[in-house]
Amino acid sequence: MSTLLEVSGLSRSFGSVQAVNGIEFSVGEGRCVALLGPNGAGKTTTIRMLAGLLKPTSGAIKYAGQSERADVREGIGYLPQSPAFYPWMTGLEFAVYAGKLCGLGGREAGRSAGEWLERVGLKDAAKRKIGGYSGGMKQRLGLAQALIHRPKLLIMDEPVSALDPVGRREVLELIRELKRETTVLFSTHVLHDAEELCEDIIIINKGDIALQGSLEGIRNSYRKPIIELTMEPDEGSSRWARELVASVAAGQGGSNPLLADAMLQGNELRLSVREMEEARSHLLRSIVDNEVKLVRLQAGYSTLEDLFMKVVRI
Ligand SMILES: Nc1ncnc2c1ncn2[C@@H]1O[C@H](COP(=O)(O)OP(=O)(O)O)[C@@H](O)[C@H]1O
Ligand SMILES: [Mg+2]
Repeated sequence: MSTLLEVSGLSRSFGSVQAVNGIEFSVGEGRCVALLGPNGAGKTTTIRMLAGLLKPTSGAIKYAGQSERADVREGIGYLPQSPAFYPWMTGLEFAVYAGKLCGLGGREAGRSAGEWLERVGLKDAAKRKIGGYSGGMKQRLGLAQALIHRPKLLIMDEPVSALDPVGRREVLELIRELKRETTVLFSTHVLHDAEELCEDIIIINKGDIALQGSLEGIRNSYRKPIIELTMEPDEGSSRWARELVASVAAGQGGSNPLLADAMLQGNELRLSVREMEEARSHLLRSIVDNEVKLVRLQAGYSTLEDLFMKVVRI
């Protein structure tokens, strides 16, 4: 796999705020990559630097096969977090206008605009005013605009975050189509969106990369056995659970070799176990001995969601 984009030591500060703090990653040609992180993580700042709209404080962004002095925007299609449209323009007028801004001649811009509007499912709405478009239609028009000059890399900032469920579905499906022919990098604060579309994820938090790699690889290496249980809101049960959590916290494995981690939230206890069989039978015995009023017990594996929450909470 060849590398399309390589980012090294990329930083950006705004006054005393360090929005992006020396991040390193690369994007392979043909991959779909999610830049995943909570609000304020530094996603928009990173993406605006990649799109050539914001100057890094330090670090380098290298696009394969492009000389230092070339305009990086030729090879990139960019869809901002909240694209602004002229509501009085029609979709077609806007797409032609975007094509001309990218340097296409009038005829070429018209042809390409028509083609892309059809690809994004706006053929029938092409001559209607954008002011009457739904959120999903506007975002699809934004995608037509971003792709009008056939870029190698499509960069999108939270492309589905502001949409209602129908619009979200429309745009996710469209991205799924587009990623077959274009390398894609998009930001999101929703793990589910990343899981649905991407091969690679980069988790960013407070300007730093917390974790990066292929979705598959990360899923496999962080899959840990867990037991979750729910109790009735009962004083004795809750004391039992608190003591269990305290024994894990105190010993970190010493006094409680079966449990690696324990977390109590209301009446829900969540245990990260070292060895499932032994931990489960030990736990069940303890539940009986202490007359814990159990509502539910579930043994399984931690999910990417658990990992994401853990990484982001730090
Ligand atoms: N133009 C700016 N001026 C000052 N601070 C900014 C500016 N842009 C972003 N920030 C700060 O940088 C941090 C990262 O912001 P941002 O990149 O927008 O995060 P995200 O897109 O992940 O929500 C935040 O603390 C934000 O307040
Ligand atoms: Mg943002």
